[in-house]
Amino acid sequence: MEVIAVDADADLTDATLIAGVLEDLEPAPGSESAFASIDSAHLDSAGFEGKKGQTLKVPHDGAAALLLVGLGNEISFETVRAASGNAIRKAKTERVVTLLAHVGIDGATRAVVEGSALGGYQFRTYKTDDDGLDAKSVEVVGADEAELTAAVIAAEATNLARDWINTPAKDKAPEAYADRIEEMAVEAGIEVDVWDRARIEEEELGAVLGVAAGSDRDPRVVTLSYSPEGAGSHLALVGKGITFDSGGLSLKSAASMEEMKDDMSGSAIVAAATIAIARLSLPIRITCITPITDNAVGGDATRPGDVLRPVEGPTIEVLNTDAEGRLILADGLGLAKRHEPDFTVDVATLTGAARVALGDKISAVFGSDSDAAEKVLEAASRAGEHFWEMPLFREYRKSIDSDIADIKNISGSRYGGAITAAVFLAEYAGDGPWVHIDIAGPARSRETSGEQVKGASGVGVRTLIELARDMAESG
Ligand code: BES
Ligand code: MN
Ligand code: ZN
Repeated sequence: MEVIAVDADADLTDATLIAGVLEDLEPAPGSESAFASIDSAHLDSAGFEGKKGQTLKVPHDGAAALLLVGLGNEISFETVRAASGNAIRKAKTERVVTLLAHVGIDGATRAVVEGSALGGYQFRTYKTDDDGLDAKSVEVVGADEAELTAAVIAAEATNLARDWINTPAKDKAPEAYADRIEEMAVEAGIEVDVWDRARIEEEELGAVLGVAAGSDRDPRVVTLSYSPEGAGSHLALVGKGITFDSGGLSLKSAASMEEMKDDMSGSAIVAAATIAIARLSLPIRITCITPITDNAVGGDATRPGDVLRPVEGPTIEVLNTDAEGRLILADGLGLAKRHEPDFTVDVATLTGAARVALGDKISAVFGSDSDAAEKVLEAASRAGEHFWEMPLFREYRKSIDSDIADIKNISGSRYGGAITAAVFLAEYAGDGPWVHIDIAGPARSRETSGEQVKGASGVGVRTLIELARDMAESG
């Protein structure tokens, strides 16, 4: 789908025109003239009141149709974004022209672009039939063009991450998935380095190798380096890339395995964000590192009780092979540290406990200090994503003391599981500012609504872009 800016006198012949309506059936600013032609008795009989989430299609002179979308009693970034997402799925014409960027709030253009491009997302690679008419172009009347271009890049990156995550594990072996990242990153002018098994052995990434040991498919470690001229600061991004999490010998139940193709979401998000940051030419240096492997069951799979040696930092006794994300992140963070970044962020579908704590719509944020966490929370708030700070409670460190190694990968208690995982990662993150984001809940949307479409959410991409923008501006 392409999203472009158009003039107010755009040709509507074959297009659905989208107009906003408030709860008292007042037209939203910018939608007055489209609304003027409507008979209010018609709205009454259709039960359309302008409430949030409501849509109504009515005939319109010179256009394929007029689609009214309810904004409720408040015009905000969120309502405009959600209304644009709801509208795009109802339009059912190839061309859509929207009046919603005219509503007169800051960021209206971005809200319309995100709502349309994210809400109109579909993953149809494995569907045999085309299910009718989908919007192919969204023409935005009264758009701020610079804002539109930037929002399109961010939305496309989010949808790229969604595509990667929605792909079945069978079709994203570490090698194939790493190739896909490489292709898109090179196109964005990013330097790419992909390590194969031999190189991973040479570099002594014992934790990645330990997780990969049960799989017939070789692991990869991908490093993306974006280093534009004039970059002030240096941001390291690390993403968990488990292409399928069976749990390993500590096997998951059938039900908890169903969604485990998603377990490379952190990887997809940091890679897609890096690609967007490069496409936006933000003056900031990015080093993005993502270890990629299956967590499978095989004759030489890592056994509970085995000890792994990550590239740097404490040796790890693996007591539960299903706590594998923190293992590959230990290597990922160890590698990131060598690049001496000013700030490090890792993103991972790390613990079911984070999902228990915050549910499916809020990501858990842990910071090495409160300033670091605050930076990410502010970026999330500007991006319109829901993040919440959790404590990196160092007293829990002793619960992961190992009898025979330096640390163990589970505490043995299911309480506070998201926190002990974060405390584990802190051992490998170095001394600089670092933030860990656990997206185990929100990585997948469970419903289609507003800008969200059932399946991979791509949550985190826009927050990381905002963080990079902020760091680029403050040097
Ligand atoms: N990938 C899972 C976490 C997860 C669970 C993500 C549910 C999305 C939805 C992770 O590797 C895992 O298995 N974690 C275990 C850790 C436990 C063994 C300490 C968990 O949360 O159960
Ligand atoms: Mn696991
Ligand atoms: Zn996992």
